[in-house]
Amino acid sequence: MTFVEKLRAIVGDKGLVLDAQDMHPYLTDWRENYLGSALAIVRPATTEEVSAVVKLCVAEKVAICPQGGNTGMSGGATPQEDGREIVLSLTRMNRILDIDKVGYSMTVEAGVILKTIQETAADNDRLFPLSLGAEGSCTIGGNLSTNAGGVQVLHYGNARNLVMGLEVVLPNGDIWNGLRALKKDNTGYDLRDLYLGAEGTLGIITRAVLKLWPKPKDVATSWNAVPSPAAAVELLSGAYAASEDNVTSCELMGRQGIELVLKNIPGAADPLADRHDWYVLLEWSSARPPREGANQSGLREKMEAYLGEAMEKGLVLDAVVAQNEAQARAFWALRENHSESQKREGPSIKHDISVSVGKLPDFVTEGLAAMHKALPGCRPVPFGHVGDGNLHFNCQSPPGWTKPQFMAHGEAISGAIYDLVTRYGGSISAEHGIGRIKVDELAHYRSKIELDVMRSLKRALDPQDIMNPGKVIRV
Ligand code: FAD
Ligand code: MLT
Ligand code: ZN
Repeated sequence: MTFVEKLRAIVGDKGLVLDAQDMHPYLTDWRENYLGSALAIVRPATTEEVSAVVKLCVAEKVAICPQGGNTGMSGGATPQEDGREIVLSLTRMNRILDIDKVGYSMTVEAGVILKTIQETAADNDRLFPLSLGAEGSCTIGGNLSTNAGGVQVLHYGNARNLVMGLEVVLPNGDIWNGLRALKKDNTGYDLRDLYLGAEGTLGIITRAVLKLWPKPKDVATSWNAVPSPAAAVELLSGAYAASEDNVTSCELMGRQGIELVLKNIPGAADPLADRHDWYVLLEWSSARPPREGANQSGLREKMEAYLGEAMEKGLVLDAVVAQNEAQARAFWALRENHSESQKREGPSIKHDISVSVGKLPDFVTEGLAAMHKALPGCRPVPFGHVGDGNLHFNCQSPPGWTKPQFMAHGEAISGAIYDLVTRYGGSISAEHGIGRIKVDELAHYRSKIELDVMRSLKRALDPQDIMNPGKVIRV
């Protein structure tokens, strides 16, 4: 039997994609930076099938590129060009297996779309707080494998904080059942934490037990023009107390990003009459419903009062507090469409950095100067999760430039930003991971000790380098 016939014996016709045209979407990434090649796209339906496929690959010395929704920003889900790998897509493993309302947990297969998980939690009067622009197509397996962040990290933590247990198929095909719904578990090394954020290089996540929270019953959302990133940080700092610790999102955007959304996303509209240099989208939410009656006191009233004070101090120049859900959704669309609008505008370079929140304003000033110096005429698009000190310090090409023309300056632009991040004691990859795109940068900016430990782990857990070779760290 050929390799493909052996695969077919495990997953059946339904689990194989072999036609070149049908394979194409699995072989390229969302940003269209890479076009890989593969022996087959394999779509198992169960953990046992994943295990059997991995065992076959071990025997035949074929490498595996795990893939979820293929929305990753770092090229981690795209196979190499040499055609000696399979893409193992988890998208057929898309069942919600259990909801424990009392224990506030949900057990799911790895291929469930994030939005389905959010909606299932909401239908059960619960919240799964992971939320990001790609939530309609990314999978929970991909979210956990990239330790995804998103827009509520400042309150709930990133993906690592939202999971209790995992089931993983190891690089030798064995199934590790760590599907424990335990909040506390100190039995030796934390194996679960190894696979979170490993970007498919240490094993394949097949199931997870997720944590749930009470569903918010009171939500206030505002769109604020602020004079500077320093004002944004101060606005957030005061908001924690003013909201009684109910700040769940705080997103910063510059005017350049808003212009791109208004230009490239049909239906997008500026909520404010005047143009401003910086904006903050602030959201407070609480599981406690607003009190009824004359003495009505909900988050919206509290937020309006707080923003009034902030205006008097000059921290806010203008603001709109959403009066209904549709208005709040329109504010969020302006924020969430930043990636899509940049893609439609043309070539861009992403820097997914973090520094400590207090240092962010100075970093922005220096970073903008560094970017303009590296390529006069480029269009910096800084935006993102200010409450986490995490900005997408992106750079759009000068208008009309081709990708090769712009990418010729990529090293100079990214080098300037990453050197600055390092000087600020920050991270060159706060959310999107290393994947393929930042393998050299990781090797350059992390210490020899850290790299040696990472390489030792990879060699110990995946001695044949079968899991997503060439991603994260070279062995
Ligand atoms: P994929 O892209 O398929 O894979 C990502 C990585 O995980 C790859 O290395 C792959 O090999 C590995 N992998 C996938 N599934 C498994 C599995 N079951 N087991 C082992 N390894 C696996 N990210 C953020 O963190 N925050 C954001 O705010 C954010 N916003 C985004 C907005 C847009 C519009 C887009 C397009 C992307 C955004 N992203 C964001 C990036 C992306 O959505 C996340 O990284 C997401 O977690 C990837 O999930 P996925 O299922 O698409 O994974
Ligand atoms: C986001 O937060 O919207 C994405 O992670 C940012 C990006 O596309 O650079
Ligand atoms: Zn982000």
